[in-house]
Amino acid sequence: KLEAELNNKKSKQAPGTIRFRSRDWFDDPDHPDSTALHIERYLNWGLSLPEITDPTKPIIGIAQSGSDLSPCNRHHLELAKRVRDGIIAAGGTPLEFPCHPIQETGKRPNAALDRNLSYLSLVEALFGYPIDGVVLLTGCDKTTPAMLMAACTVNIPTIAMNVGPMLNGYYYERLTGSGTIVWESRKRYAAGEISYDEFLDIVSSSAPSVGHCNTMGTASTMNALAEALGMGFGSAIPAAYRERGQCAYQTGLRIVDLTKKDIKPSDILTKEAFENAIAANSAIGGSTNAPIHLNAIAKHIGVQLDNDDWERVGYQLPLLVNIQPAGEFLCEEYFRAGGLPAVMAELLDNGKLPHPDAMTVTGKTWREICKGKNSWDRRVIKSFDNPMKKNSGFLHLKGSLFDSAIMKTSVISEEFQERYLSNPEDPNAFQGPCFVFDGPEDYHATIETKEVTPDAILVIRGVGPTGYPGAAEVVNMAPPTKLFKQGISELPCIGDGRQSGTAGSPSILNASPEAATGGNLAILKDGDIIRVDLNKRSCDILISEEEISKRCNAMSPYKCPASQTPWQEIYRTYVSELSEGMVLKNAVKYQRVAQVSQP
Ligand code: FES
Ligand code: MG
Repeated sequence: KLEAELNNKKSKQAPGTIRFRSRDWFDDPDHPDSTALHIERYLNWGLSLPEITDPTKPIIGIAQSGSDLSPCNRHHLELAKRVRDGIIAAGGTPLEFPCHPIQETGKRPNAALDRNLSYLSLVEALFGYPIDGVVLLTGCDKTTPAMLMAACTVNIPTIAMNVGPMLNGYYYERLTGSGTIVWESRKRYAAGEISYDEFLDIVSSSAPSVGHCNTMGTASTMNALAEALGMGFGSAIPAAYRERGQCAYQTGLRIVDLTKKDIKPSDILTKEAFENAIAANSAIGGSTNAPIHLNAIAKHIGVQLDNDDWERVGYQLPLLVNIQPAGEFLCEEYFRAGGLPAVMAELLDNGKLPHPDAMTVTGKTWREICKGKNSWDRRVIKSFDNPMKKNSGFLHLKGSLFDSAIMKTSVISEEFQERYLSNPEDPNAFQGPCFVFDGPEDYHATIETKEVTPDAILVIRGVGPTGYPGAAEVVNMAPPTKLFKQGISELPCIGDGRQSGTAGSPSILNASPEAATGGNLAILKDGDIIRVDLNKRSCDILISEEEISKRCNAMSPYKCPASQTPWQEIYRTYVSELSEGMVLKNAVKYQRVAQVSQP
């Protein structure tokens, strides 16, 4: 019966063409009732019959992440119209649908918690509805990885299109960048230098138009990496520029072509593509959240990628892009200087783009895209020989405290280097007594009461994906006031949580396993000596193995705050460690679940 059914279906296809998966909804001769039910309801708002029954027309989903709740992505409500125009012009039928909102600055307790929820709901939409290819409308931090992860699980032809950054913010003649200006002005407000109204004015000036953050935070990073992976193009175009609408139209045209050729995420997202993205992340000065999200995308497409790859490919590459928070400019200048293709061209010309022949959704390889695309403005995208910083990537540390953690060494200040790293015998090792905090509330309540010394290492635990659902961005902790008064503005920090892309202290982040799932951060006590050796990539507690096992045996399970919503509880039950991408453990076995059937 199955064979007869398949032959029946095949007979309706022109030889050599793909039978799009939407035909199973709109053209299933063996199930005329359900076919009719699908057809009548999709016609009810004005579609005409050929738009959904013509076997040569792919149905293209437009995954809409913009809404009033998601101001960073809200401009997609407009841009989607241009995507539709492109799809129709290329002979496809667009069907737009909403995604679960993830607004970085609006979601309690944090937006990272919702990445996997948005992922799950998009998998169901892509799998369960008549969609042959999809345009992911990305932007604000977690929307990009959430949507790419879902496209990987389902594995239908996909293009990710960024909403684009906001225009430059100005307060009088000064550039004001997203996030960065908040951290700076809040200090001035606390010191009584500006009023609350001025504080609000300055901060609001950094958000002058539609679009996402105009600094190199997680949004600009993740959209640049989606492009570097080969899954999109034009990531740097500001949201309000005409080129953004044109990019939306091109995306509509391209996705129809990709769908007709059945070019799927698994064809683009090879190990080589991920290595190119890691190289790009170093050159743009990407956020420490990038390894988490990229490792998650890799898990869902079935590519082996871990933090060793991040160090191997990315550590020794320079920072080329002069954008806040690491530099001076904002995303408008970055776009005008050439955006990501100019960064990739600089790497390629210097033999540092790992895989120039990796294919992209544009139909071109990076070698082809980069031709003639070098930086038009060397103030903004630097030459390889004159970078902003050397060694802009991450070190991958291991040891008796955790199996995996990363450190961004390029943000280590001279002050820190003098205090910790200038021991002539071993310039890359430092050690000191630790002071331990169980979450940010404990840190704020007790930091001023502990006898924190100038050689101290601050440790925060209980803030990983399970401990503090979503993993809190709290690892970079300020020293107590008395050390500030002695001129010590930063101490090394270690934690099983995350750190905002805009923060700059010498932190050891994303420690996995986290305390809440049995990681050894849980056995630390105030005053234990921790030794960090950057040459050996190690971070150890200087107590005997017997003492470690004694403490482990005496430990009761780490106490975490209670879940506040059903999703928090479900999330904690299934989430993996930060080093594993913080994915839902039992989701990764579902791969390529909606393969387009071949003729
Ligand atoms: Fe949405 Fe920064 S808050 S992109
Ligand atoms: Mg953030």
